[in-house]
Amino acid sequence: MRIRTSRFACLIIGASLLLTIPASAVKGAPDTAGKRQDAHPWRDKSLSPARRANLLIEKMTLDEKIVMVHGVSPIPIKGYVGYVPANLRLGIPALTLADGRAGVGNDAKDITLLPAPIAVASSWDLGLIHQYGKVLGQEQWAKGTNVELGPSIDVVRVPEWGRTFESYGEDPYFNGRMAVAEIKGIQSQGPIADANMYLTMNQENNRFKEDSIVDERTLREIYLPPFEAAILDGHVGTVMCAYVKTNGIYSCENPQLEIDFLRRDLKFDGWVMSDWGATHSTVAAIKGGLDQQMPDDEFYGKALKAAVLDGHVSVSELDEHVRNILVPMFRHGLFDKSQPGNWLANVRSPEHDSFSRMVAEQGTILLKNDASLLPLSDKLSIAVFGAAGSKQPKVEGGGSSGVNAPYVVSPLDGIRKRSGAGTQVTYALGSDLDAASKAARNAEVAIVFVQTDETEGDDRLDLKLPGNQDQLVTTVAGVNKKTIVVLDTGGPVLMPWIDKVAGVLEAWYPGQEDGNAIAAVLYGDYNPSAKSPLTFPRTASAIPTANKEQWPGVDGLSTYSEKLNVGYRWYDATNGQPLFPFGFGLSYTTFQLSHLSVAPTNLNSASGSTLGKVLLKLQVTNTGKRDGAEVIQAYVGHPAVNGEPPHQLGAFEKVQLKAGETKPVTLELEQRAFSIYDMASHRWITPAGTYEILVGTSSRDLPLHTSITIAQNTTSK
Ligand code: BGC
Repeated sequence: MRIRTSRFACLIIGASLLLTIPASAVKGAPDTAGKRQDAHPWRDKSLSPARRANLLIEKMTLDEKIVMVHGVSPIPIKGYVGYVPANLRLGIPALTLADGRAGVGNDAKDITLLPAPIAVASSWDLGLIHQYGKVLGQEQWAKGTNVELGPSIDVVRVPEWGRTFESYGEDPYFNGRMAVAEIKGIQSQGPIADANMYLTMNQENNRFKEDSIVDERTLREIYLPPFEAAILDGHVGTVMCAYVKTNGIYSCENPQLEIDFLRRDLKFDGWVMSDWGATHSTVAAIKGGLDQQMPDDEFYGKALKAAVLDGHVSVSELDEHVRNILVPMFRHGLFDKSQPGNWLANVRSPEHDSFSRMVAEQGTILLKNDASLLPLSDKLSIAVFGAAGSKQPKVEGGGSSGVNAPYVVSPLDGIRKRSGAGTQVTYALGSDLDAASKAARNAEVAIVFVQTDETEGDDRLDLKLPGNQDQLVTTVAGVNKKTIVVLDTGGPVLMPWIDKVAGVLEAWYPGQEDGNAIAAVLYGDYNPSAKSPLTFPRTASAIPTANKEQWPGVDGLSTYSEKLNVGYRWYDATNGQPLFPFGFGLSYTTFQLSHLSVAPTNLNSASGSTLGKVLLKLQVTNTGKRDGAEVIQAYVGHPAVNGEPPHQLGAFEKVQLKAGETKPVTLELEQRAFSIYDMASHRWITPAGTYEILVGTSSRDLPLHTSITIAQNTTSK
């Protein structure tokens, strides 16, 4: 093992070599190829991945199997955050793992910094997130990475969660759709994607010890579905088990999560790797379903070998874990193709720079726009405040998803460039409130950029903007009625000044093209079309997880007492008034929905197994004067007896419309939208009854209603 890795230690740009050596070594010269294939029958591409894995396992020694199930630390080549060395004897390629939720991480250089995942999710555009995945996958592959440690797909339960920016939002169905699109994008470019972080990874503060106390129905209906979609529809190759415990058992040795849910119910045939340092045992983890320890061998190296030799772990158990790793490696072609990339490669391109800007534009939500102040007209003088003009505007979140931006266009530079000569643009950081007040008074429009510093490892203390930012907004808005606030935050914040400002944009962490993108939105070169994938609360106490028993927890227990009422579900169930609801976002044009019909209206299933899809048809008209895009959202309200939240997202579609144009829209509701997880039978069922269907443009603006009736109870997938 060590001898093999040390051969590569001197290869600083060794990834490509590492990955191609095994392939070429076993491929050999043309005249020996036949012999080699006989000796290595798993090289036969016509066989199924499972068959190939079995053939290979038959030839592996115990030591070689042990090598596969853990990372090595320190990593013998430059770059990557996780590494499993190649096996030259058998032609098994090395695994090179890198972070990358908004660009290649782990201190890689010459890469593209994309907007945070929460921003691309805000576009509600599955094509865009698919492309986002492709850009990530392409850059990772060109860096020699063959396992991309993303996306992060956990449902955002706690608005203060420090990794909110890394995820997609608060709805399980929505997160699942996003995950599938991104995973397919990543995996289309070579790397195996990794669904992070399984399961109940909903807080940072106490993440190494926290125990999430959560009932099974909630797990099944809220927290599992994104992973279910990632596995069943996204065909993700790996799942990363999380730091936290769920109901008393660490994620990485939790048989309910890893064996019952993943293997038995979802038929997952990829591998479960531990988060970095999330393995806590050898035998319990092996039996609990963990396939691979990362990043080192503390429990899955010598200790595992000893456990096999003394019979606590059987060889067939070990084989099963090795098979789980090998099957996706075969499926994704890691044995069959060479990977020309290396960690020092410059993987940037003008296309990726433009893509980063496009995502930032499409991810920016127009939350408020009184008297159509926006878009700005070219001639207005502007006073800009906040970090917008500093050397480090907030463009990305911290922790393992951190990326070395190749450059950052500051909002001040972007606005100056866009506003053109002759327009006065002043700038002040805003630490001196008197000076800010004076500057704001002297300009026709004031734009205040505010931010939060969100990072893995820490939740936010509360939902307030840190420092004096609230005072800055209040001061500026006090003297200038045309004040616009741009939020560069990773999650929702309170806006005590909301009634005093004319406009608010949520730009999230917008990546390297920050200034260009925000200028395009402010001036209307891009007409905003994003929708919030999270609820913005009105006050600190009016949130679903306001009790400390829920978050951060008491005595290490974090109690999910809100059960199914996560995010907007809670606001609806309690008649709460959010500041901005889930699904909300304005445009510079207006839309009208009409002519909703549903088919079929009565569902029955003679076989008692599956019901067909429910199709919704409607029309959407752009009633304004600009081209734009609207996201049509369909929510389902269950019969009260089902014990579900008032209504839940079941389908959505983004539609581009020219000014004045009308288009037909079709949405498909799957049976899952009418199903609940039945704790008596331990399966999904679709109970008989009448289901309300509400269609509109946010979870609180649902003008079109219809319903369907399900005649008899059926089981469901
Ligand atoms: C994070 C993972 C990440 C890993 C490797 C952990 O701290 O939770 O998301 O992939 O580090 O950097």
